[in-house]
Amino acid sequence: MQSAQNAGVPAGQWSSRFAFLMAAIGSSVGLGNIWKFPYMIGTSGGSAFMLVYLTCVMAVGLPILMAELALGRMGRQGPIDTLVSLGRRYTGKAGWGAIACLGVLAAVLILSFYSVVAGWSLAYIPKLLTGQMSGLSGEQTAATFGALLADPWALAFWHALFMLLTIIPVARGIQAGIEKAVVWMMPLLFALLVFLVLYAAVEGDFAAGMVYLFKPDFEAITMDVVLAATGQAFFSLSVGLGTMLAYGAYLPGHVSIPRTSVVIVFAAILTAVLAGGAIFPIVFANGLNPSEGPGLVFVTLPVAFGAMPGGALVGTVFFMLLAIAALTSSVSLLEPIVAAFASRTRLSRTALAWTGGLVTWALGFLTLFSFNIWSDVHPLGGTRTWFDWIDYLTSNILLPVGGVLLALFAGWIVTRADSVQALGFRNPLLYRLWHLLVRVVAPIGVVVTVISNIA
Ligand code: PHE
Repeated sequence: MQSAQNAGVPAGQWSSRFAFLMAAIGSSVGLGNIWKFPYMIGTSGGSAFMLVYLTCVMAVGLPILMAELALGRMGRQGPIDTLVSLGRRYTGKAGWGAIACLGVLAAVLILSFYSVVAGWSLAYIPKLLTGQMSGLSGEQTAATFGALLADPWALAFWHALFMLLTIIPVARGIQAGIEKAVVWMMPLLFALLVFLVLYAAVEGDFAAGMVYLFKPDFEAITMDVVLAATGQAFFSLSVGLGTMLAYGAYLPGHVSIPRTSVVIVFAAILTAVLAGGAIFPIVFANGLNPSEGPGLVFVTLPVAFGAMPGGALVGTVFFMLLAIAALTSSVSLLEPIVAAFASRTRLSRTALAWTGGLVTWALGFLTLFSFNIWSDVHPLGGTRTWFDWIDYLTSNILLPVGGVLLALFAGWIVTRADSVQALGFRNPLLYRLWHLLVRVVAPIGVVVTVISNIA
């Protein structure tokens, strides 16, 4: 990364298009694709969820991702400042910054539970490395996972360790650290996932897994499924809260936003599908429950690792990679929080990263206790725990609403001439399609989904 000389310009640019791609993929590919996607499939209608998810990613997620990157590059500041200055330029009003404030709130809430779950992954590294999980049945891995969840002290330790790992690179300025980590980690993660799918194909019930994932089941598509899939589309692409806006600010001028976005989306989908392809054949071969919920990855894959030769090592590497994939996402959650305050306070970047990280860590205890001492606490009645509420509020409401507001801003407030230039589509028809999607299709689709669900 080169450091910027003049004030007002964010600290440097990605050193190359490749480095940017890796960082953006690092942000989008994370727990959302490997941990959350499979269990959402399991709890929300199997292949029906898959179908709606893919549709939402293409029709809503992709165009909004392009909008965020374009806005970020046009503004070249942190998300709030970018929206304030672009808003002033086009409408004379500064209130547009509020959209990014909503994003900061979403980032804090997401990071609070993200760090807890990434902590589970850290906790699994020594468990696999020492062979404790070798040769276990599905029931036994479920018991091991249950014992981890039941121990708030252990969870708090791993949650703290993960938050520390997130704070340090953000305090230093993220690009340098992220660039180095993701360049070797992403290819390795893909390779390992492909290996696991092959293993599942040989040793698991591959046919049942594939039917579950891909056999279209239109009748299972309900409004709940549509909302869950919409939320997951935003979450898995890191879209809707300003992360990509923040990253776009460092994007060199010559890089093609449409092409880059397609690559990011492809990587996110591929990871999710591979994770599903590795997990469900093992679920069905071992009589495990596909709607196990948030523990799915942690219960199923160790059964496979425990049974394969060299599995302790493969499993150790897998959970390390999962933790690193989570880390390249968590820094992209802390970054916009720091950026939001950087130009508004006199605090240093280091102080902001620590303050933001510690406050978020403390908030994480709402999630952490949801899996043990507060598992019976249902704020607002119903069946949702604190974790369920934070997850629901962020994925199903804050991200979609934030994403739609950004889409409307890019589609209606930014002038046509400017957005044509910012996006740089070679084909005018594709530009028109994008414009239609961000102005009309995505906003209407998302608003109808969210409102019908709340009502
Ligand atoms: N996309 C990340 C994941 O799938 C989570 C994330 C959401 C990161 C929003 C940044 C912003 O794990």
